Amino acid sequence: MIIWRSPSNIALIKYWGKRGFQLPMNPSMSFTLSNSYTETSIEFARNDTNPPELTFEFYFEGEKNQVFESKISRFLLKVFPHFPALLGYHIKINSANSFPHSSGIASSASSMSALALCLCSAELEIAGETTGFKSFSDKAAYISRIGSGSACRSVYGGLVSWGFTTRFEGSSDEFSMPVPIGIHETFSELCDVVLIISSKQKKVSSSLGHSLMEQNPFSSSRYKQAIVHYNELVEALESGNEKVFIRIVEDEALSLHAMFMTSSPGYFLMEPGTLKIIEKIRQFREETGLLICFTLDAGPNIHLLYFQENELDVKAFIERDLLDFCEKGKWIDDRIGKGPEKLGR
Ligand code: PMV
Repeated sequence: MIIWRSPSNIALIKYWGKRGFQLPMNPSMSFTLSNSYTETSIEFARNDTNPPELTFEFYFEGEKNQVFESKISRFLLKVFPHFPALLGYHIKINSANSFPHSSGIASSASSMSALALCLCSAELEIAGETTGFKSFSDKAAYISRIGSGSACRSVYGGLVSWGFTTRFEGSSDEFSMPVPIGIHETFSELCDVVLIISSKQKKVSSSLGHSLMEQNPFSSSRYKQAIVHYNELVEALESGNEKVFIRIVEDEALSLHAMFMTSSPGYFLMEPGTLKIIEKIRQFREETGLLICFTLDAGPNIHLLYFQENELDVKAFIERDLLDFCEKGKWIDDRIGKGPEKLGR
């Protein structure tokens, strides 16, 4: 049995708006998490179909799941031309998350990258090689990207970039890569507390949201802003400039949500608790001088970022001032991680 554990990631420079076959309108950058992951296993056996087909069954946390199964079916249909060796095989997929569903952790990033890695490993076992791509990681990133754009960034640990940028040779809209610079040690201990404001399902799906960017009157300025932010962030990461890091990360989160509001129809994914916590974080930073900041995904939950050296103060602040705004006081403790791990075979 092939088993991969793949973590989710949180974007510092956001990917929002796409073109062609899951290609981003601007380069993005994230860091890979550690505790929030999906574990996926694949068992495969010949199915004797004629003509040869790839067949599958899917279990989520040990049970059949119709919604996920249809999603996987659409995904496999798109990617199977890249895996000719899997034709004539039946695969049994089992998947489980380390974090609750709809908790503000991007489960598509961890689940799609875990599945892509399993498929690439299965091909390697059956065919003895990774076909059509320069490397195993490139193929895993490409296949993850087809499942969910941001998932391709989960194929690596640490700080990861996706999308073409004049800054880095070899960067591409089709693949992700570890950010190829010497990252200042300040950023080696990034921590992320996810404050759960609401665990309700997203009101607007990612694919609808991306497509609304095509008509958004501010989209071209947004793509330019993302490039400026990307370059500034690279410099801040290299030089260890925490203040610039904080400014960019918060501006990116608010710009992402501004794109939701200025789409047509406009939509709003923050909740009153989101605004309250943002205000509290900024106030705490001003009063204590501690370097903490927030970022947001496409939802109401807050990712509170801080550096490990401030852990005790930050945790005390969370418990004292923020948990009242969280759904049933829920939060998830995470940090920058090393990337996917192969656990079986
Ligand atoms: O990967 P998708 O298509 O679900 O898009 C998600 C994009 C954001 O999570 C909102 C931002 C990002 O870059 O991760």
